[in-house]
Amino acid sequence: MAILTVLAKRSVSPDLEIAVSSRFWVVRVLVLTGAGVSAESGIPTFRGKDGYWRNLDPAKLATPEAFARDPQLVWDWYRERRQRIRNARPNAAHDAVARLAQRTDEFLLVTQNVDDLHARAGISAQRMVRIHGDIFVTRCSRCEFERHDYEHEHEHEDEHENEGVIPRCPECDAFMRPGVVWFGEQLSRNELERVEDFLDGGACDVVIVAGTTATFGYIIDWALRGSELIEVNPEETPLSRFATQQVREPAAIALPRIVDQLIASPSKL
Ligand code: OAD
Repeated sequence: MAILTVLAKRSVSPDLEIAVSSRFWVVRVLVLTGAGVSAESGIPTFRGKDGYWRNLDPAKLATPEAFARDPQLVWDWYRERRQRIRNARPNAAHDAVARLAQRTDEFLLVTQNVDDLHARAGISAQRMVRIHGDIFVTRCSRCEFERHDYEHEHEHEDEHENEGVIPRCPECDAFMRPGVVWFGEQLSRNELERVEDFLDGGACDVVIVAGTTATFGYIIDWALRGSELIEVNPEETPLSRFATQQVREPAAIALPRIVDQLIASPSKL
């Protein structure tokens, strides 16, 4: 089994042997998450029967053209989502991923989620790439200026956004926009490099993909960069046929168990 490094029993003392055998041998792990991981925290997914894109048109809300046409409408939608996320709590799936990050030598979480629930569950910024951005970042649509609104205790939203005012850049006066990646936009080069650097560091022993329809080619490409691919999703996806394990359960049920198994007895996976 790829994720278990077999321990050579050549310790010079019993103490050393205990120290060696209590190390964690899940060596390189990549976790890819999507909206399904936050579903049990009450954040709607995008596709599927209760998903955002069922009733809303992405072209009217999540593209640069939509923002140029009606920035107020776009901001109203993002404010409502920010509020929902602030009121939500990380669930057992976020906690499980954070636990795995702490117990794994080389670990990267790549999340498509713009909510902050993985971060609030305790994953450090170094171990996480937020490939579609951060909903609490407000950035200028023209220049490089950006700020993190959550750290301001929401005062910007109280002062400006709740009044329906579109925030303006303090540097150049252009409209500010949410710091997320919209359809038709490039992914951040920095964040892409972080993922590629991690993957170039060696094959992953295990890749876990949870709560995503894997619509984007880059998600599929990254998911295939490991010896084992565990997919956690109640539904089938384009990735399912490549998975070495398909776990058809909600992430908050499956991930704690998978992480327990990986940590306690990786060879059983
Ligand atoms: P989707 O809404 O496309 O997919 C959510 C997936 O989660 C589906 O495959 C569901 O079957 C699964 N799911 C639902 N509940 C679940 C649960 N409790 N546990 C595990 N899985 C569950 O969301 P994403 O794949 O994340 O992009 O969407 C990818 C991107 O498309 C988003 O980041 C967003 C969207 O348009 C941008 O905004 C750029």
